[in-house]
Parts: sequence; structure tokens; C-alpha cells
Amino acid sequence: MKKIITLIATAAITASMMVGCGKSASPTDANSTDKAASKKEIKVGVALYKFDDTFISTVRQALEKRAEEKGKESGDKITINAVDGQGQQATQNDQVDTFITQKYDVIAVNMVDRTAASVIIDKAKKANIPVVFFNREPVKEDMAKWDKMFYVGAKAEESGTMQGQIIADYWKKHPEADKNKDGKIQYVMLEGEPGHQDAILRTKHSIKALEDAGIKVEKLASDTANWQRAQGQEKMAAWLSSFNNKIEVVFANNDDMALGAIEALKAAGYFKDGKFLPVVGVDATAPALDSLKAGQMLGTVLNDAKNQGNAILDTAYSLAKGEDTAKTIKGITDGKYLWVPYQPVTKETMDKIK
Ligand code: GAL
Ligand code: CA
Repeated sequence: MKKIITLIATAAITASMMVGCGKSASPTDANSTDKAASKKEIKVGVALYKFDDTFISTVRQALEKRAEEKGKESGDKITINAVDGQGQQATQNDQVDTFITQKYDVIAVNMVDRTAASVIIDKAKKANIPVVFFNREPVKEDMAKWDKMFYVGAKAEESGTMQGQIIADYWKKHPEADKNKDGKIQYVMLEGEPGHQDAILRTKHSIKALEDAGIKVEKLASDTANWQRAQGQEKMAAWLSSFNNKIEVVFANNDDMALGAIEALKAAGYFKDGKFLPVVGVDATAPALDSLKAGQMLGTVLNDAKNQGNAILDTAYSLAKGEDTAKTIKGITDGKYLWVPYQPVTKETMDKIK
């Protein structure tokens, strides 16, 4: 099986290299050579951990849109090739290898396994192809390995704090939310993928914000639902039957899982006849905003796909052009990090975003 895959990959690479040769081997056409000199084609390889992720697909759209705008602005032809890692690090490594063999100008990587970045970094460094990581943050030691390397993301602890503050506000205004009148929040937590910085830090800081606001908490249950709506719904349905009426608040590390929890709650008779339970997510995806509007999801936090996509493309472009990124890219911290701020969103504030 492996052999067949290698064969196919080799064939694909060879074929694309031949296409590459074809392009440069037309020096007889003076006109096209002139054009090639003034209009450089910039090839950006984009490796996504998987296509089937609501938030990541919005980042991809933003990035592609920005590439189009930037192409018009600069007169450069910017080509984006986005590939699906399908949640497999080995697949993603092969895809990055192909970008390298095909001499892409820059590679943007949304790691499948964020602890495995060093393999990609070593290869890119050897080929002198800059890398922009995003959304799944490589560990500090890996980020220190080379200087033509950036990370675009958002500070996960910030989103957790904002979720906690949304719940704290609600709790203070709604004494009836303390169903058993013990002065504590009994909560459940739907976590993202284990090991993901956003899962770890949102889980921690959402609760810390409640404690900082002087609110006592009691965890009834927490479990991973891997960012996925169906898994969120399944876990929530199980908790509803084991804890019956004891759950007072539902935290979800992202909107898809929060929406899954809301489905389970609906099936248990919530969100009608005055029966409500506060659920908070993160991302502010379109379906989450619909849910806020319908008075179901209590709150979310904008994970700013548009500005993240813009920052990834702008950084990639600048690196591909060999510019001094410290001068061309605003807001870089520690030499290689670009942090895009989060924003809390409720039904009352949702019109102010996007
Ligand atoms: C998070 C986002 C999740 C999921 C994850 C993928 O920032 O909130 O919904 O997309 O990234 O890495
Ligand atoms: Ca209580």
C-alpha cells in the first residue's frame, strides 16, 4: 500500500515539475519573458489540518479573498493551493513535501499535530521556503528553530476569560439560574481536541474568570467532543440523562459543540415554554449567530477568521517577496507572533461585529 502511495506521489510530483519546466521554457516569446520579469507568480501552499471544520473553512475563505485583493493591488499573480490533511499528520507531511518539491514560494501550515512541527520546519529551512503557521500553535522550542517562520493566531486564554465573563454577567442578573439555590454554578464542559492550546486554555480560563468574579463553581462533568457538533450533542444528551436537572451552565470550547449541546437540550424540552439553560461557545460562526438571534445560545466569542486570514496572507506575501517583515507587517511580537484579538458576542452586541 505504502509503495503504491509513494509511486503515485512521485508521479504527481514529476508531472507537476514537467508543467513547471514547460512554463519557463518559452524564452523565444519575448513578450511573455518581459511579463514574467515584471509580474512574478507567487505560489502559496496552504496545508489545513482538515477541510471539514467550520471555523477553519472560514479562515480559508478569508485567506483566498485577501489573496485576490492583494493580487489586484500589487499586480502580482498570487496562486493559493489549499490541501486537506484529513486529520492525518503523515498525510500533511507528504503534502508539505510536495509543496517543497514544486518550489512553492511560501507555505502556510495549520498543523494536524501541533507538537510535530519540527519535521516540517527542518525540511522548509533546508529548502529555504518560509513558513507561516496558524491556528494550531507549534511549541516554543520549534518556533525558535528558524527566523523565516511566523505564527498567526489568537490568545486562547482571552477567549476563555470572555466566556467566563458572559456567564458571570448572566449569573448576577438571573438569580433563578441557581436552580438548587446552593450559591454555586454546577457546570459541564465540552472540550475541543485534547492537546490543542485552545481546548486547554479555554477550559481553564473560562472557570478562572468566574472565580475571579467571586462566583463559586462545581464541575459536574467534562469531556472532549473534538470540536464537533455531533459529538457535543451525544455527550450533552448523556449528561442530561445522568444529571437530570442539576446542570446550570454549559461551557463549550467552540460553537459547533455548543450547537450540538443545544440540539440535545432542545430534544429534552429546553428553549421553549420559558425553559432555558445558558450555553456559551467560541468562534461566532454563522450558525452560532443565528442561534444567538433566536435566543438559544447565550453567548460566544468572535474568533476573527477574517483578520486571521488577512494576517496569514499578508505575512506569507511579504516573506515570498523577500521583504523585511519586521517593517512590512504591523503588530509582530517576539519577532514571529501575530495575535488577532477576540471579542465577546451576545444577542445585544452581535450587530456590532462583522
Ligand atoms: C479553534 C476553533 C475551533 C476549531 C479549531 C481547529 O480556534 O475555535 O472551532 O476550528 O480551532 O484547530
Ligand atoms: Ca447551583
